[in-house]
Amino acid sequence: MSNPLTDRRIVLGVSGSIAAYKAAEITSRLVQAGAEVDVALTRAATEFITPLTFRSLTAREPYVDMFRPHGEYGEAHVELARQADLMVIAPATASTMARLVNGLADDFVSLTALATQAPILIAPAMDSQMWEHEATRANRYTLEGRGVTLVGPVPGRLASGRIGSGRMAEPATIVDAIKVRLGQARGDLAARRIVVTAGGTREAIDPVRYVGNHSSGKMGYAIAEAARDRGAEVILITTAALPDPHGVRVVRVESALELQRAVEAECPQAKALVMAAAVADYRPSEAAEQKMKRADASELAVDLVENPDVIALVSGDFVKIAFAAETENLIENAIGKLERKGAQLIVANDVTATDAGFGTDTNRVTILDRDGGAEILPLMSKYEVAVRVLDRVAALLADQES
Ligand SMILES: Cc1cc2nc3c(=O)[nH]c(=O)nc-3n(C[C@H](O)[C@H](O)[C@H](O)COP(=O)(O)O)c2cc1C
Repeated sequence: MSNPLTDRRIVLGVSGSIAAYKAAEITSRLVQAGAEVDVALTRAATEFITPLTFRSLTAREPYVDMFRPHGEYGEAHVELARQADLMVIAPATASTMARLVNGLADDFVSLTALATQAPILIAPAMDSQMWEHEATRANRYTLEGRGVTLVGPVPGRLASGRIGSGRMAEPATIVDAIKVRLGQARGDLAARRIVVTAGGTREAIDPVRYVGNHSSGKMGYAIAEAARDRGAEVILITTAALPDPHGVRVVRVESALELQRAVEAECPQAKALVMAAAVADYRPSEAAEQKMKRADASELAVDLVENPDVIALVSGDFVKIAFAAETENLIENAIGKLERKGAQLIVANDVTATDAGFGTDTNRVTILDRDGGAEILPLMSKYEVAVRVLDRVAALLADQES
């Protein structure tokens, strides 16, 4: 499973908001990710966007009129609901939310929502006064109480020109939320806590300078996203300034010592720790309190002291996955680390390759285990590498739990 949306059946309900045009982008993203998407529109939605747009994007006929169904289903209104892996309503108007709360089924969107047993996710979109109205507020809480997931709305510029809350979440965020919900419903890491570290640590020399490394954090973020997509509760401890992945709890740190404290704090309930961060082996013995000035001397030495080996020192009943970034003798060095760090697996990569390792979107790794096994993977995206690493984590957890 390299993409959590591949072959998933998603029903996208579109209701009558000015944000309906963004439903086209959601559709396009889902289709490109390999999902089978059926679109249902309310009558009001067709005032904002035409069914033709969705037919072109999905190569399937959208559903608008429940009394004039089409396609292979005799009972389209319930069959669509039955076959769905997930229903998403984006945008969801105040009216559509009220209809869901009251169990009305007088258009294709509310009808399908009432008939389906699949998880439902809604992305409300409306003016801030409508969103903040007591009626909408009560509807929101009722829907959440029934297990409906809300994505957004977010503060921002509204169609009325006002700035306020009620703007629909961005299509990319909605697609991420769909992955999260699908993972929670059927992922093999569902309800398991996984702690992931990412990025290179920064060891202060003075308030403006540090000793660092070239780790971009991309591999750790890919692990966090892939674990989230399989239903895990993910805590990402990171030094990198990348955008927070949706549905992941992010803990920001800078130095190895801060990272160690965060790992110690987050690991007690974890099932796995994946240490993709490049933690500095040494740090300046003292960080100057003020910015260091250029001195008369032509040389300057910074004393370094050893940092703790975070993964080796953290103890508990969880699976440990280490990473080894090497520039020579990749496998020999990685095997040595596997033992020293008490890890079940080590993911080894040669950071001298230009298409793999630091900063790239692709990686070429070998996964080594304690039985001497070496799974040599070809060049692939960091997300795909993450999926392969997590396949091994899921297998180790399944062994532990059986
Ligand atoms: C230009 C325009 C924009 C609208 N935008 C919204 C909106 O963003 N959110 C909303 O809840 N209603 C909005 N409405 C009102 C809904 O279209 C109206 O309540 C409609 O009955 C909703 O029907 P539906 O929920 O069946 O799609 C808008 C109406 C107009 C005329």
